[in-house]
Amino acid sequence: MKLNRRKFIKRILIVAASIEAVFLLKDSVSKIDTFSSKELFNAGKADSFEKNKLYPFSTGQFFLKRFEDGGFLAMSVKCTHLGCVVNANSKTGGFNCPCHASQFNKFGEVLSAPATRPLDIFPIRIENGEILVDTRKPVKRSSYNKSQLTYA
Ligand code: FES
Repeated sequence: MKLNRRKFIKRILIVAASIEAVFLLKDSVSKIDTFSSKELFNAGKADSFEKNKLYPFSTGQFFLKRFEDGGFLAMSVKCTHLGCVVNANSKTGGFNCPCHASQFNKFGEVLSAPATRPLDIFPIRIENGEILVDTRKPVKRSSYNKSQLTYA
């Protein structure tokens, strides 16, 4: 069988596209929640965190807040304006950004601009009493609501 140049190039392109499709499919399948607990940030035993307190985790780049009702919220340290690291404000229980003075309340909601949306949060999983924070997946939100809390 004799292939002309046009058919040969067409077949090469089909084979290349097929190989690419296989790799893309394989990559997307492997990303479907196959990460193990070892890939999550272990913040420690849930029991060890007092209610109504804030715990900074600089290596994980988040604040872990345990609220009065025992619920946990992991908030990113990055300001949603331009990404500066916010500081905890011990007087208000919220956060202040040193760069352009945005302020956030204890739920990470904006109290004063220029930031326009709350601090991102990270999903929390509690396994065997340990708090595991998935710092690879910051979640954007428009406001705080109780469904964002995780309970032991
Ligand atoms: S980076 Fe935080 S207010 Fe601008």
